[in-house]
Amino acid sequence: MNRVDLRSDTVTQPTDEMRAVMSTAQVGDDVFGEDSTVIELEERMASLLGKEAGLFVPSGTMSNAIAIRCHTQPGDEIITEEKSHIYVYEGGGYAALSGCSVALVSSDLGIMDVSDVESKIRKSAHGKSHYPNGTLVCMENTANRGGGTCYTQEQIDDIAQMAISKDCAVHMDGARLFNAIIASGLEPARVVRDCDTISICISKGLGAPVGGVLVGSKKVIEQAHRWRKMFGGGMRQAGILAAAGLYALDHHIERLAEDHFRARQLAEGLVGTTGIDLNINSVQTNMVYIKTEDLADNIVKLLAAELIDVLAIGTHLIRMVTHLHIDDEGIERTVNAFKKI
Ligand SMILES: Cc1ncc(COP(=O)(O)O)c(C=O)c1O
Repeated sequence: MNRVDLRSDTVTQPTDEMRAVMSTAQVGDDVFGEDSTVIELEERMASLLGKEAGLFVPSGTMSNAIAIRCHTQPGDEIITEEKSHIYVYEGGGYAALSGCSVALVSSDLGIMDVSDVESKIRKSAHGKSHYPNGTLVCMENTANRGGGTCYTQEQIDDIAQMAISKDCAVHMDGARLFNAIIASGLEPARVVRDCDTISICISKGLGAPVGGVLVGSKKVIEQAHRWRKMFGGGMRQAGILAAAGLYALDHHIERLAEDHFRARQLAEGLVGTTGIDLNINSVQTNMVYIKTEDLADNIVKLLAAELIDVLAIGTHLIRMVTHLHIDDEGIERTVNAFKKI
């Protein structure tokens, strides 16, 4: 029997078809700007999101770090949700690499309210230089720790327009933006119309092995190119990786709906199970978070013995993520295993 690996959508392996495309990709030295496959991925992602330019990057973390560096000066403050990836899981990069402090915004299942964001924007000029300059508002869509939740178009527009009116740039951590787009049926370029930069990961639900693309105006992506160099993210024959991203854009976006359906099946199967607390409203895309009465680590071990892998996110919090390699049988086995343990 195969293991059912629900820890993350980052565990996906490139499919045979994706590997075939990678193995025949045209490549060149991308630091010299000579890799036509990388250039094609950058251009396609930018045009899909209605922006002028894109930059291929090795990871979502670097993409966010570069965006923050482009939009801020040392001593500035970024405004982000209190459990956002940028704050919780990026090693404090905003402080170390950009010299920024952070103002944290509370949320409802990862989705910030415009008035809460506004109340966190501080400006030096209004506080006799007591305050740092809040210059960048970050949104995460889908919101990972919110449960894979999605912003509505109105919420994005309201936050972005308020931020712009306060002289802040707007960055979207769209590691899983295509999950949000498939779930909402909205048009990608419209969703991010008011965002200055958007970070997209190809290595999560899209199923490519490595990387992402940061998109924005020509001007900001030129700056991003310089920061990528300084952060050590310039890659050479990276077309072999970008080819996987191009394949994913053609073949792995629409199918995200299957992952969402299976996450829903999993959640509905688990609702009411003894020892589990599950908020079905948070299950909007490919994630299922559950609060557990028992220690999360104990449950991880018991499930592992049933060949099912889930992730302990906190002492009593477990995350499960559906993806390319999770089928109906895997969902059924997981629901049954929870009932058994
Ligand atoms: C919302 C979000 N942003 C950014 C990242 C960072 O991506 P990477 O692991 O490629 O650095 C992740 C990774 O899981 C994520 O969930």
